[in-house]
Amino acid sequence: MSADASRSPSRLPDPPDNRSNPLFEEEQLYIAPGSQSISLNSRLVIDHGEGVFLTDATGRTFLDFFSGVTVGSLGHCHPKYVSALTEQLQKVTFGSFTTAPRVRFMKALSEVAPGNLRRTHLYSGGSEAVEAAMRLAKAYTKKFEFIGFWGGFHGKTGGVLGMIGDHFKHQRGPLPPGVYSVPYANCYRCPFQASHPSCSFLCIDFLRKFIRHNTSGSIAAIVVEPIQGTAGNVIPPSGFLKALAEVAREAEALLITDEIITGFGRTGKMFCVEHEGIVPDIMTIGKGMGGGFPVSGLISTDEIVSAKPFSIPSASSSSYGGNPLAAAACLVTLETILEEKLVENSRSVGEWLLEQLRELENRYPFVGQVRGRGLMIGVELVRDKKSKEPFSGQGTKALFQLALKEKMILMITNSVIRINPALILSREEANLGLEKLKKIFDTLEKDRLYRE
Ligand SMILES: Cc1ncc(COP(=O)(O)O)c(C=O)c1O
Repeated sequence: MSADASRSPSRLPDPPDNRSNPLFEEEQLYIAPGSQSISLNSRLVIDHGEGVFLTDATGRTFLDFFSGVTVGSLGHCHPKYVSALTEQLQKVTFGSFTTAPRVRFMKALSEVAPGNLRRTHLYSGGSEAVEAAMRLAKAYTKKFEFIGFWGGFHGKTGGVLGMIGDHFKHQRGPLPPGVYSVPYANCYRCPFQASHPSCSFLCIDFLRKFIRHNTSGSIAAIVVEPIQGTAGNVIPPSGFLKALAEVAREAEALLITDEIITGFGRTGKMFCVEHEGIVPDIMTIGKGMGGGFPVSGLISTDEIVSAKPFSIPSASSSSYGGNPLAAAACLVTLETILEEKLVENSRSVGEWLLEQLRELENRYPFVGQVRGRGLMIGVELVRDKKSKEPFSGQGTKALFQLALKEKMILMITNSVIRINPALILSREEANLGLEKLKKIFDTLEKDRLYRE
C-alpha cells in the first residue's frame, strides 16, 4: 500500500472541539440545510469581534482572513462604525425618504467613482444589484441578451443564474434564455491550453466568434468581475478588460463590471477597473461598501439611468434599498476608508503580504500559484504542480481544520485559499497570518495531507 493510499479520512486532523458550543447543535435543529460551508465546517459560535479578530463563545480568538466573504472592510466593530450606526438607530431606521447620510454618501461616492459614473441606486443583496443592472441595461439598449464568464459569480437568483460559469447551475434549470457564459482570462488554467501573452487573448477572439455564432445579436451587456472572487481571486492579465470594453462597443452592448467584491479599496484602488484605466457603463457595488451591513447597489451615468422603464417612479426601488441604516453604514464606511487611507493600506500591506506568500510557491510542493492585488490574494492549491491537479475535497478540509487549530479563519473555494482580510489589516497582523499559514503548510507537508 502506498503512503498516500494509507491515509484514510480518519487520519485527517480532528475538527476543533466545539462540543462546548451547544448553540451550534441547537441551531441545527431549526436552520434549513444549505447555509455557508465555512459556517457548517467550522461549527463556530461567534460571540464578538474586534478589528481583524473574532472570538467564539468558548473564548477562543481567531485571526479573521475571511471578513464575511469580504464584507467587513473596516473589520469588526470599528469604533466609528459602531458610533455612526448607534446614532442612526436612535434617529430613524426604515423607510425610503431622503436622509442626510444618504445624500452625503451618494455625493461622496460620485466623487470617487470612475469617470462619469455618478447616479446610484441602493439595494440589499449582491444578486439583487446585478439583476437591477441587467434590467437597466435592457432598458437602455432595448436588447435582452447577456454574456458572463466561466468562473464568474453574481449571486444565486434566477436572473443571474445563467451567467454563473460553474456547475452551480446544474439542476437549477431551466435557465433564462439569452444568458450565456464564455471563458474568462484565467491564465493559470487556460481553457484553450494557451499561454499569455503569446495567445494574443484567444478568449477575446472566442468571445467575438461566440457573439457571431451563438447569440441573436441582441446583446444588452457583457457582465464581468474585474477579478473573479468566488473562482479563487483570479486576476486576468492587463488588457483583458480593455478588450472586453472594445467587444461591448462593437456589439453595441454595455459593459457591466461587477465590483461587489473588488470595490471600495479591496484591490488597492478604490475600484478595481482603475488598475486598467477603463470606465464601465454600469458598475455593481456592495459587500465592503456597507462594512457588513446588507447593502448593495449600482452606479451609472446620467444618460443610462434615465432609460425607461428603469427610471419610472417605483420601477427600480425596493423595500430596504438605501434605508436610513444602510445609508449611515455606507457613509461611515466610505468616510473611514478615505480618512484612514485604507485603500493605500490595502495596497501596501497587500503588496508586502503577496511578496512573502510568493516565496511559499518554491517552498511547498502544493502551492501552485500565488496571485493578488491589494488585500485580495489567492493561493492556488494543487496535488501536483506539473499537472495542476487541484486539492481534493479531503485535502481542502484538512487545511481548513488545521487553520482552525491555528486559530485562523480561512476561506477556501475551488481549491484556492482566498485571503480577504479587512482593509485595516496592519503589517504585524499580516505577518501573524503569514506565520500561521506557514505552520499550517508545514503540517500539511509533513503529514502529506495535500495528497489526500
Ligand atoms: C462579484 C459578486 N457579485 C454578486 C454576488 C452576490 O451577492 P449576494 O450573495 O449578496 O447575493 C457575489 C457574492 O459573493 C459576488 O461575489
